[in-house]
Amino acid sequence: MILGKARDKRGNPVLLRTPSMKDLHRLVGYMNSLVEENANILLGKKISVKDEKSWLTDIIKRMKQGTYFYIIADVDGEIAGTANFAKGVHRQSHVAGFGVSVNKKFRKLGIGSLLAKEVFKHARRSGVRIITLGVFPRNTVAIKMYRKLGFKKYGLLPHSIRDGRGYTDEILMCRRLC
Ligand SMILES: CC(C)(COP(=O)(O)OP(=O)(O)OC[C@H]1O[C@@H](n2cnc3c(N)ncnc32)[C@H](O)[C@@H]1OP(=O)(O)O)[C@@H](O)C(=O)NCCC(=O)NCCS
Repeated sequence: MILGKARDKRGNPVLLRTPSMKDLHRLVGYMNSLVEENANILLGKKISVKDEKSWLTDIIKRMKQGTYFYIIADVDGEIAGTANFAKGVHRQSHVAGFGVSVNKKFRKLGIGSLLAKEVFKHARRSGVRIITLGVFPRNTVAIKMYRKLGFKKYGLLPHSIRDGRGYTDEILMCRRLC
């Protein structure tokens, strides 16, 4: 489903849309390119088509249930970036965890910010009032973007992420939506 049309900083059209099973192989390529560049994301090793297929099947189902939201920034049929939110349950259904990434080729063009703002719009509509995220302390680029988007640090989870043979901490940030 097409959610909106925007332009990156160079003026190129960016289609904001939800995923379908047709995106399977493109999503595998997209995620594995982030792994290859050793991006500061939770996924630490390449994903198989089989695993991505079950993940995609599950998120499409959860999107229909309204507990998950996933958006693709599509530039000329290529996945330039993705973002998502996952709603909490019960007394935390107004809280959602947020994630965003942009393909190396399309960075610094405003696409990460575009994706985030679109996600916030849909989160607000679905009753989310607080957005949370976790970020590696060394990911200064993402932290800068999150601050610009209104996120504030509220904590640090020590050794939360396995990192090679050791561990790294996770900076916890949040932003109100109302
Ligand atoms: C973090 C990430 C999503 C940013 O996406 P992006 O599309 O490049 O970001 P934007 O172009 O919207 O930039 C937003 C702001 O972030 C900051 N920023 C982005 N790239 C930057 C860079 N290379 N150096 C310094 N600041 C940078 C700037 O403040 C920028 O605002 P400005 O354009 O007004 O100066 C992208 O770098 C990425 O996908 N990285 C790998 C995956 C990742 O780290 N995801 C987040 C995991 S927590």
